[in-house]
Amino acid sequence: MAALRDQAVLLSGATSGIGRALALRLASEGCRLALCGRSPAKLASLEAELALPSARLVARAFDLADHTAAAAFAGDALSRLGRVDILINNAGANLGKAAAADIDLAAFAAMLDLNCTAQLALTQPVWRAMAAAGGGRVVNIVSSAARFSTAGLGGYTASKAAFDGLTGVLRREGKPLGIQVTAVYPGGVDTPFRAQARPDYLRPETVAEAVVGLLRLPAGAAAHELVLRPSVEDNFA
Ligand SMILES: NC(=O)c1ccc[n+]([C@@H]2O[C@H](COP(=O)([O-])OP(=O)(O)OC[C@H]3O[C@@H](n4cnc5c(N)ncnc54)[C@H](OP(=O)(O)O)[C@@H]3O)[C@@H](O)[C@H]2O)c1
Repeated sequence: MAALRDQAVLLSGATSGIGRALALRLASEGCRLALCGRSPAKLASLEAELALPSARLVARAFDLADHTAAAAFAGDALSRLGRVDILINNAGANLGKAAAADIDLAAFAAMLDLNCTAQLALTQPVWRAMAAAGGGRVVNIVSSAARFSTAGLGGYTASKAAFDGLTGVLRREGKPLGIQVTAVYPGGVDTPFRAQARPDYLRPETVAEAVVGLLRLPAGAAAHELVLRPSVEDNFA
């Protein structure tokens, strides 16, 4: 198994749920981290818990709707950590449920932006640096929603399906560059993403464990996709 010690990881959505669990787990593996989230208070609390020296941690709170801020953070992470070996695009949200006939188009566009376009804005500078360095790993946290049609979930489903399509193209484009791209499709996870607690769903630490398992695979093994559902779910073909 490949060691993760001293690997430089850029992780979005680190302030909550799956991302927070990943940040703590990657720190315990000895990774150097570039972390972002939206809430400055939640980021400060995570930084305090991590207690890493500044040479091993770059952290910034900003809204991914600001693509310039996303690209600037990626640039900063690259210059302060020297490189990014692993990019984990985890930030995302469901900004509203409604039947497709009734979806508010502004909310629909905002979801497409956050769950797809903003992911690309953060990825582009890291991708170019990985290509110049001869390779890297990208893990995109998509959703089982991209693989199963659920009534009332049109905006979120369309945005994650767009991200899924982009992820497949990146996988193709990354191959000759030595960049491996993995799509992770979690089913229900018990995080603040959900309005109500779901103890029967996956724990965020379980998703983090699975992602770390993927990252520890030897370089010659390309993990394209991981679908990880709680055993209570049956939304699959
Ligand atoms: N929970 C599930 O059942 C589930 C299932 C499948 C896929 N997913 C996906 O897994 C990923 C992580 O979700 P989670 O369950 O861990 O949810 P979460 O606890 O709500 O965490 C979402 C993270 O994304 C960040 N974020 C949201 N909107 C943002 C914005 N506009 N700008 C910058 N950062 C933003 C949040 O930052 P702040 O907390 O600082 O606002 C937070 O760090 C998401 O992409 C989600 O779509 C979740």
